[in-house]
Amino acid sequence: MNETDITKAAAILRKGGLVAFPTETVYGLGANALNERAVARVFEVKARPRFDPLIVHVPAMLWLERLTTGFPPLARQLAEKFWPGPLTLVLPKSSAVPDLVTAGGPTVAIRIPDHPVALSLLRAVELPIAAPSANPFGQISPTCAAHVREQLGPKIDLILDGGPCRVGVESTVLQLTPEGPLLLRPGGTTLEDIEDVIGKVQVPDGSQDGLPGAALASPGTLAQHYAPRTALVVRSRETRGVAHGELPASGSVGLLAFRESDQNSQFARVEVLSPTGDLREAAANLFAALRRLDAAGLDLIVAETFPEAGLGRALNDRLRRAAHA
Ligand code: TXA
Ligand code: MG
Repeated sequence: MNETDITKAAAILRKGGLVAFPTETVYGLGANALNERAVARVFEVKARPRFDPLIVHVPAMLWLERLTTGFPPLARQLAEKFWPGPLTLVLPKSSAVPDLVTAGGPTVAIRIPDHPVALSLLRAVELPIAAPSANPFGQISPTCAAHVREQLGPKIDLILDGGPCRVGVESTVLQLTPEGPLLLRPGGTTLEDIEDVIGKVQVPDGSQDGLPGAALASPGTLAQHYAPRTALVVRSRETRGVAHGELPASGSVGLLAFRESDQNSQFARVEVLSPTGDLREAAANLFAALRRLDAAGLDLIVAETFPEAGLGRALNDRLRRAAHA
């Protein structure tokens, strides 16, 4: 990565092109957020339904004046504490933001990413960049440039390679509603850290997600997402052994394990996310490990749950959405 690559990427974005770039969470597929045609191409390339709004990336808080009509004090406190970083704030949108970006809604999701390449690019282009994760809709998010190349390569204008993503799961999406803060998607900034700054956050009961007729506060949080092609079931560490009985005798089963264990012999292939059981390490490895298992020709993937705290919430959320049998 050098200056020339950034300059080239910025020129492509200014002309309405699409550039995949690294962030600390996952790779994003970027377009000029103020150019409706460029944004329309993002939806096309990802085969993303137009009811699912995009996150706008900016290099500094100054941009909020242009893109929003209000920045409540709680949002400011969060931004000062966590930006740049894996936190997306949903705020009232200004007329500068095209309706396509927000799926026709009155709010816009904004974040400042914590990655040197993303920040250099945003500063160079001098435009807000709308960027969903750089994967086809519903599939596993990319945590390195090779993932983007495999899934979207020929369809986009440039991929900036900034190495593997440090966090590995997407940003936390938070809306500040008149009724109080609402967690729309658990992610790289933990609920505990957010509540330390602004107090109690409402966490919706995930059971309504994606059900027909249920209002989608965050339309991207469909029940099935982040999905491998291989059938996947989620089990606690204590019960994962029984999954074998759910398969025909000839089936080969892979295990996505949180930590090291000596009881893995029944599995044809095992991916250990963090030998010592460190949630950060597990998050950084999750999507790449899931891709390797998906490519291994298995009949079933058994994924072990994480403790439901800290980053574990985001990891369990991604597993639940990856699950299908
Ligand atoms: O870490 C991330 O957030 C990555 C990197 C590239 O920044 N981006 C990402 O974008 O994960 P995407 O499009 O895969 O997910 C965006 C999520 C979706 O669940 C979407 O519904 C929600 O944010 N979202 C976007 N705008 C919203 C809005 N105005 N109101 C509610 N939810 C919104
Ligand atoms: Mg995504």
